[in-house]
Amino acid sequence: MDRVAGKIAIITGGARGLGAASAKRLAEEGAAVMLTDLREELGQQTVAAINEAGGKAAFMKHDTAKEDQWIEVLQATQTQFGGVDILLNNAGIGTGGRIDKMKLSDWQHLMSINMDGVFLGMKHCIPAMRERASKWEGGGTIINISSIMGFIGAVGSTSYCASKGGVRIATKAAALECAKLGFNIRVNSIHPGYMETEGLQSAMRAIAKTSGDEAKEAARQDMINSTPIGRLGKPKDIANGVLFLASDDASFVTGTELVIDGGVLAQ
Ligand SMILES: NC(=O)c1ccc[n+]([C@@H]2O[C@H](COP(=O)([O-])OP(=O)(O)OC[C@H]3O[C@@H](n4cnc5c(N)ncnc54)[C@H](O)[C@@H]3O)[C@@H](O)[C@H]2O)c1
Repeated sequence: MDRVAGKIAIITGGARGLGAASAKRLAEEGAAVMLTDLREELGQQTVAAINEAGGKAAFMKHDTAKEDQWIEVLQATQTQFGGVDILLNNAGIGTGGRIDKMKLSDWQHLMSINMDGVFLGMKHCIPAMRERASKWEGGGTIINISSIMGFIGAVGSTSYCASKGGVRIATKAAALECAKLGFNIRVNSIHPGYMETEGLQSAMRAIAKTSGDEAKEAARQDMINSTPIGRLGKPKDIANGVLFLASDDASFVTGTELVIDGGVLAQ
């Protein structure tokens, strides 16, 4: 119950899905959590559930693409909890479409969240993390949520794949920078496969809307069929990976890619 006891985490996109599951897991293991999201009501509910279960969590409405809001989140986390040790850059969107039909503004919107948001989080949290990094054997820790789509392409997902590939390699560069400059901060990426979350369900609803229920079911079955373990992932599968990388058990782990995908990429 104390794998991250005393640590302070900022988790973006934490209102639901993988972010919410990770926030719950880190809180169970003793971290104080600043959970941020665009979805205020849902975020408050997630925080209330964590606090009712004996954890320590607070919520801030936050658009990760906006630099001024990152500064406010840092200040609030400092005031409320006393600093930051763990950053989970989880907020992301999965809209896409064919390249020849995609608007530049849609491409840029996705990049502003999936890439700018990750950059801004690292930029603003690194200085704050350095102040407390010597408290922990594993130092400060940044976990960037990429995807299996950071390794492979998919039809209709050029912008998403580009953003997640960008997160994957930016993570390595940041890890080297933090290590070589002696910052005592580890930076790693996690690559979920097909996970059962509200994000996935809304992608399924979009398929149903454009191509019907049968196409939706076929898409779901395709994902299960391409996963050797034979099921979709659960949010807690990712939360357990986040916990490992956030804890001092991972004190020698930096610049790595933790693939949690039921075997998809092993094929
Ligand atoms: N679910 C999957 O199958 C899967 C697979 C691979 C990678 N991922 C990645 O994991 C992360 C979480 O995915 P999920 O399935 O839990 O998604 P989700 O849609 O269920 O949750 C994402 C949360 O991020 C929030 N968000 C979106 N834009 C934001 C912004 N600009 N600022 C702050 N919050 C914002 C949303 O409001 C939402 O609560 C994403 O980065 C996603 O790309 C998911």
